[in-house]
Amino acid sequence: MDYREIIARYADKPGGMIEAFHAIQADLSYLPEKAVAEAAQVFKVSTAEAYGVASFYSMFSVKPRGKNVIRICESAPCHVAGATEVVAALERELGIKMGESTDDGLFALEFTECVGQCQATPVITINGKPYLDVSPALIPGILAEFK
Ligand code: FES
Repeated sequence: MDYREIIARYADKPGGMIEAFHAIQADLSYLPEKAVAEAAQVFKVSTAEAYGVASFYSMFSVKPRGKNVIRICESAPCHVAGATEVVAALERELGIKMGESTDDGLFALEFTECVGQCQATPVITINGKPYLDVSPALIPGILAEFK
């Protein structure tokens, strides 16, 4: 769906800009510059303010990135349980480093803080869905779900 249509859908709602940003990002995996500028117009704020909102929240990305966003928890319990090895397995399997996206646009790798699943560390999320007790051996199978 065109980002203009998405923004128009939230135009009259309180807090609509943040909801519109969520919806655009769910569709495109990031917030394009043009979409942020359009939102500024529709919600009657300056472009700088709209950018401020887009860049304030860590869940929003204003840079293009892979469609499936993989986040690895780097908080202490996950770290102690072997998150570093999971990171290495993801980087090896995808051929990219943390903070990068694959050339085919399928995957992005990012860090996150604790996602509240510390009972089953290490934890990764893919598009917000948690995967628990992850080990390097499980990575190829998990990624295969998205290819
Ligand atoms: S520390 Fe990783 S989910 Fe809580």
